[in-house]
Amino acid sequence: MAVTIKSEREIELMRESNRLLATVHKELEAFIKPGISTKDIDIYGDTLIRKLGCIPNFKNYNGYPASICVSVNDEVVHGIPRKDRILREGDIVSLDAGLIYKGYHSDAARTHAVGQISPEAQKLIDVTRESFFAGIKMAKAGNHLYDISNAIDAYVKPYGYGIVRDLVGHGIGTSLHEDPQIPNFAQKRKGILLQAGMTLAVEPMINMGRADVEWLDDDWTVVTEDGSLSAHYENTILITDGEPEILTLY
Ligand code: MF3
Ligand code: CO
Repeated sequence: MAVTIKSEREIELMRESNRLLATVHKELEAFIKPGISTKDIDIYGDTLIRKLGCIPNFKNYNGYPASICVSVNDEVVHGIPRKDRILREGDIVSLDAGLIYKGYHSDAARTHAVGQISPEAQKLIDVTRESFFAGIKMAKAGNHLYDISNAIDAYVKPYGYGIVRDLVGHGIGTSLHEDPQIPNFAQKRKGILLQAGMTLAVEPMINMGRADVEWLDDDWTVVTEDGSLSAHYENTILITDGEPEILTLY
């Protein structure tokens, strides 16, 4: 599929879809505490999305059985919410959520602390978020796609963390996943030319240990191979001739 350039009308719809998602993430963050199950988070998030008159885009996507991906500790992404998976003080939990508003998709992810966490875990969360911002400094019309990938890689490298290679960011619009794919690690080529009106989900996934991941038997949950912690930070952005607009910030 080709990379789409959104019209002014479509950009307005993307802004609204993603703004609504930002409010969902805000509520979800406040909901996180020791003792709740990952299923509680999914039920709460699903309810919030539907209350806004929107549709959770992850639900049934390629058979994914929930509305919010909830990934704990060494789970990288696509954790499946469960009643018997209880958050405990010191855990880190990644919430990936999205919705459809008037046919337009939004997508964003955050990693949160559950109560008090170790300084090492907090550092991983912080560096993952910072790497997103380092990446999108390059996200403007006239630059190339892989300028973003290279900037994320360069930011993370000094920390010695593993940058997940098996999963990447993506274009987004009337589908959750559009072209192009957006790697979070350095590329040898330049990638496509960025143009105003592109909407992209940039989403570094960073492991405290090695970059390698594996899939659990549920065929969804991605975990670090070495059992190390993993963090995720994702926003949907709009490419402009100047600074990118971050559509999923509260
Ligand atoms: N942010 C995730 C992604 O871009 C959301 C998809 S999860 C799925 O892959 F459950 F819907 F597959
Ligand atoms: Co995404």
